Amino acid sequence: MPQSVLGPHPGTRHAHEQVVFCGNEPTGLRAIIAIYSTALGPALGGTRFLPYVSEGEALADVLELSRAMAYKNALAGLDHGGGKGVIIGDPAVDKSEGLLLAYGRFLESLGGRYVTACDVGTYVADMDVVSRATRFATGRSEVAGGAGDSSVLTALGVFQGMRASAAHRWGSPTLAGRTVGVSGVGKVGRHLVGHLVDDGASVVVTDISEQAVETVRRERPAVTVLGSTEELVRADLDVFSPCALGHALTDEVVAVLRAAIVCGGANNQLAHPGTEAQLASRGILYAPDYCVNAGGVIQVADELRGFSFERARAKAEGIFATTARVLEVADAEGVPPAAAADRLAERRMESAR
Ligand SMILES: NC(=O)c1ccc[n+]([C@@H]2O[C@H](COP(=O)([O-])OP(=O)(O)OC[C@H]3O[C@@H](n4cnc5c(N)ncnc54)[C@H](O)[C@@H]3O)[C@@H](O)[C@H]2O)c1
Repeated sequence: MPQSVLGPHPGTRHAHEQVVFCGNEPTGLRAIIAIYSTALGPALGGTRFLPYVSEGEALADVLELSRAMAYKNALAGLDHGGGKGVIIGDPAVDKSEGLLLAYGRFLESLGGRYVTACDVGTYVADMDVVSRATRFATGRSEVAGGAGDSSVLTALGVFQGMRASAAHRWGSPTLAGRTVGVSGVGKVGRHLVGHLVDDGASVVVTDISEQAVETVRRERPAVTVLGSTEELVRADLDVFSPCALGHALTDEVVAVLRAAIVCGGANNQLAHPGTEAQLASRGILYAPDYCVNAGGVIQVADELRGFSFERARAKAEGIFATTARVLEVADAEGVPPAAAADRLAERRMESAR
């Protein structure tokens, strides 16, 4: 019997609910939308626009990403399931108004079972176009009635997760007097640096972009700049904060890391399954990425209700309590924090089913 794309064992509780293949010849649109679960509410997650080498690669990505969004949304306490969209193509070449509108019409046809937002390759301006064809696009600009850039609340959430991690490790919810290394000072990293400096931390940063480094140096002259992430992870840090791209925690990095805590905004920080156990065996407290970086999805979820920055900020501050709970459950159940986060998310999804 051929295997279903919805999951390895059709009918098991981890199978996806729905996968939709979208095509529109005149605009060249080829997209896949995956809905992992709507048990907690409409599936919510961004649209990734990438030149996937094959439809198979795009499908694998969208299935994994939509499942990850279900866990992130459930743990963040949002009334949303997990979903994701991928558009196959080079955004620099293939993106057009017509293509985005065609994509929006597919979203509309799902009747709200999936709500999209920005992801790699899609921006606030794109969501403004998509939203002309559907009610189910968020992450729009302020002039189009949206909430704009989500990195402010993402950084706030990461900071709250770091405070909770500090309380768990050192008994006090502050980074004052600690040295925090931030790899990647783009939108999220830059705002995080501000919170850390204000809290009294010594901050060491690195970025491959000279412009990003200069912006932070101008805003926060007290920061120390190192030449590379390789140098940063070997430095005498209390906290390492990956805020660049995914898979920052490779075997090599875990082996040389001197920090007691890892807590950052980047998605998919663990290079492979088992990295969380390596960190634990080295005595490093890992605050799960999708737990602490949920401020962005909290913002886009709020946008669906008519955005209130204060309401969304209060919810993003709740990442302190969520992280504290994850770390408590990890200790109580004798598992790494990443496994504890998964368990809490699964329990919430199960109870809604
Ligand atoms: N923006 C959000 O609201 C949000 C929400 C959740 C998760 N995230 C994740 O947080 C991370 C950062 O997002 P962002 O919005 O700040 O992106 P960004 O592109 O604004 O910033 C990323 C920064 O990392 C730098 N960088 C890339 N490779 C590097 C390397 N090898 N060493 C050092 N620096 C490097 C880039 O030059 C850039 O300045 C991403 O993994 C993203 O998926 C972002």
